[in-house]
Amino acid sequence: MAVTAVVGLQWGDEAKGKIVDLLTDQHEIVVRYLGGNNAGHTVMFQGQTYKLSLLPAGVLRPGVTSVISNGVVINPKALLQEIESIRSRDVVIHRLLISDRAHIIFPYHMAEEAALEKGRGDQAIGTTMRGIGTCYRDKAGRTHAIRMGELVRPELLRQRLHEVVPQKNLVLHALDPECPPFDADAILSEYSGYADQLRPHVIDTSAYLHRALADRKSILFEGAQGSLLDIDHGTFPYVTSSNSSGCGIHPGSGVPERAIEKMIGVVKAYTTRVGGGPCPTELLDDIGQHIRDEGREYGTVTGRPRRCGWFDAVATSYGARISGVDCLAVMLLDVLSKLDEVKVCEAYEIGGERTTDFPSHAVDLARATPVYRTLPGWKKDIQGVRKLKDLPTAARAYLDAIAELVDRRVEIVSVGPDRDQTVIV
Ligand code: GDP
Ligand code: IMO
Ligand code: MG
Repeated sequence: MAVTAVVGLQWGDEAKGKIVDLLTDQHEIVVRYLGGNNAGHTVMFQGQTYKLSLLPAGVLRPGVTSVISNGVVINPKALLQEIESIRSRDVVIHRLLISDRAHIIFPYHMAEEAALEKGRGDQAIGTTMRGIGTCYRDKAGRTHAIRMGELVRPELLRQRLHEVVPQKNLVLHALDPECPPFDADAILSEYSGYADQLRPHVIDTSAYLHRALADRKSILFEGAQGSLLDIDHGTFPYVTSSNSSGCGIHPGSGVPERAIEKMIGVVKAYTTRVGGGPCPTELLDDIGQHIRDEGREYGTVTGRPRRCGWFDAVATSYGARISGVDCLAVMLLDVLSKLDEVKVCEAYEIGGERTTDFPSHAVDLARATPVYRTLPGWKKDIQGVRKLKDLPTAARAYLDAIAELVDRRVEIVSVGPDRDQTVIV
């Protein structure tokens, strides 16, 4: 595999981390190109569990170069803590490169987000409160943005913080008069320490990636979040603040999409969503709770219970089209193994009309009633299966229904969290 991308096609947590880890042994470079420490990617092998947030899952494989490219928003304290916690478990980070164009999250981003979310009351987006949206907002607004290239230049950082922090204090006071003001010098002193530790890793990563492409190096792009959380194409405003579908690879790394030879769409065998916003197939009954228990569906980052429901082929095929994926990796199939029957949403009914189009507005999605295709369950433990032919017929029929409705071939099936619990089709 030369240049490959892995993207989630639903609302995140599709088990992208496991697929990235699996594919990393065929790639020399792994690139995280969007989001920040809102992501939580779990990787399990040899009885060990690793939870990664900002570092690409590639760091766990010896000899791999990990790149955090320009599209990522970086909380330097969180990044350094993650590096430390990985190292404390004897993982050797071969080489970590961080873009000088990546934007930096400061404490006032978290304070601003808390005030904005509070202001929305029961309409809150339900963010991870990591300052992701407010940092991207500053990036788009330009005036208050501070990039990695400024963080590592002490005089520039001092100058920028003295410009930005007083203005932030004005905005914050207007949003929440109880919010204590931030002190530019205190932030400068704290962040200068982080800058000293990160400076050796900081380069122009897009130039590096273009050299790697010219040298025919193998590169893996690691998606975060999912296509339905994409700022342009997702369920706005209940989305994250970046292009978390396949659309984000080019702006987030500088590598044009035409360089990607294979785009893999990762999907759960059912649906989960964390935070606010419509989710037509959500199950608020015992089956929803059963899926949550069997799949251990609690957020890696915030610990929130994930909302669970049947596989939504309308939403997922939309995600597949937007991201332009070539094939599917269907994850967590084992979670459904105890159910008598399983359902797939093949259309929506909105205002009495049947449609397979995914609505562009959250208000219309909230009115959508799923139209289900019901299939028999397989009622068999499949965690030990390693070959497609050994899956029960009903499980294969379920995969066929997903492939047909999403209109993509299933190339990988995951039957358990471990690296080894995988069926390559
Ligand atoms: P990501 O954010 O897309 O990387 O996904 P997360 O790591 O947040 O969530 C996926 C969860 O499912 C993790 O706890 C994984 O260890 C787990 N997982 C991955 N594949 C499987 C599988 O096939 N079966 C089961 N039961 N768990 C899995
Ligand atoms: P991974 O990479 C699932 C959700 C939040 C919230 C919305 C906006 O692990 O799949 P944000 O903090 O980004 O402004 O929150 O997006 N969200 C995720 N949901 N998996 C993720 O990442 C997510 N990252 C953000 O719950 O609804
Ligand atoms: Mg996750």
